[in-house]
Amino acid sequence: MAFSLSAASHSSLCSSASTKVSLSPAVSSSAPLVALSSSSSQPHSFSSLRSVKSSSLFPHFSFTQRKYPINGTKNRGCSTKCAASDAAQLRSAKEDIKVLLRTKFCHPIFVRLGWHDAGTYNKNIEEWPQRGGANGSLRFEAELKHAANAGLISALNLIQPIKDKYSNISYADLFQLASATAVEEAGGPEIPMKYGRVDVSVPDQCPEEGRLPDAGPPSPADHLRDVFYRMGLNDQEIVALSGAHTLGRARPERSGWGKPETKYTKTGPGEAGGQSWTVKWLKFDNSYFKDIKEKRDEDLLVLPTDAALFEDPSFKNYAEKYAEDPAAFFKDYAEAHAKLSNLGAKFDPPEGIIIDNDPAQGTPEKFVAAKYSTGKKELSESMKKKIRAEYEAIGGSPNKPLPTNYFLNIIIAISVLVLLFTFFGNNNSDYSGF
Ligand code: HEM
Repeated sequence: MAFSLSAASHSSLCSSASTKVSLSPAVSSSAPLVALSSSSSQPHSFSSLRSVKSSSLFPHFSFTQRKYPINGTKNRGCSTKCAASDAAQLRSAKEDIKVLLRTKFCHPIFVRLGWHDAGTYNKNIEEWPQRGGANGSLRFEAELKHAANAGLISALNLIQPIKDKYSNISYADLFQLASATAVEEAGGPEIPMKYGRVDVSVPDQCPEEGRLPDAGPPSPADHLRDVFYRMGLNDQEIVALSGAHTLGRARPERSGWGKPETKYTKTGPGEAGGQSWTVKWLKFDNSYFKDIKEKRDEDLLVLPTDAALFEDPSFKNYAEKYAEDPAAFFKDYAEAHAKLSNLGAKFDPPEGIIIDNDPAQGTPEKFVAAKYSTGKKELSESMKKKIRAEYEAIGGSPNKPLPTNYFLNIIIAISVLVLLFTFFGNNNSDYSGF
């Protein structure tokens, strides 16, 4: 199995690994990857190469340190500094994740993956990584084998090829990218994410077991507060985040919760089985709250901690609101999810990396064909459509001014016509006298 390395063998590999430097295209993996293998085991060899990274000699390549190998081929840690992620790679990885989601229907488990990496955060501990949180520690067997993480190995196995493809994305970022993308792709809100999370490098940095919530504690509301307040989250955020159970299923063979299958899960999509909280468990909406409130169906799951949201007076305010108002749920969920994804994380650069609205690209320019018209009146939609079609017919777009050489060509053509007309026109008039 892929994640079967013991902590001891892992650290020994870490200390004895030779430094490998891979010269790889910054984004695409389709181009061949050239690996420069250095025999040096000096950590300094990488820092000296970092200065080459910025060299204009290699504008399209990035030098990245190969992580020490696990199971011969995979990279699951850093032996020196763990670099933060690269924006172009993050954008490209997001597209790859979308393809994975559309083919594997793994939205729910990706959301759970991101949550379980981040949800170990303890606000009372200042030091990183002891404070836990979104730091990629969940990739290590030491943490994966915590009871709360049962089944998450599948999510890791799905995401690993993307990690292998993009050497400049940390695990911590990739887990959160996969989770936020899954919510968005399932029809949920856009999450205001940032990236640049630094990974922990050895299993010894994993948090101790027991930081994630239990689904059936003696006093569910108190337990939820104990766990989520420790993360610095409040009642509203607890309820909003619980709404993520609009996606996915519980499986008896993983968490011990849920039925082996129900009428909603026996045919998939994806792997069949388990018990879902909602009928359409791949669609992100507020049906989780509506279904619990209406006690809709025996085949739908309600964990003791889910039920507490409609029993505890403070939680109930929010749960009732989200059952009635999907827009309020989406707004609060998006904010709470972003906050969760940042818990405990160390960002490099400290302000993080935004990939969804790249300021360098600017906001797309509005329809500007009106610039070329004479009247001040706003064009009708049909007229805009017509102008757009005309622009597109000549390979242009109304959103961008036409290339100047287009006008130059027109001017040249008109000049030629004028000259010809003058020449032949004059000749004609000469002849006309006869
Ligand atoms: C409030 C406390 C929570 C408890 C007690 C809890 C418990 C559980 C349990 C027992 C499962 C079933 C796992 C399995 O059998 O495979 C599960 C699945 C899931 N949880 Fe939670 N959870 C909580 C909060 C959250 C939060 C905050 C999120 C995300 C923001 C989340 C997202 C999910 C998702 C998406 C699944 C479905 C996974 C799949 O279908 O593979 N949960 N949760």
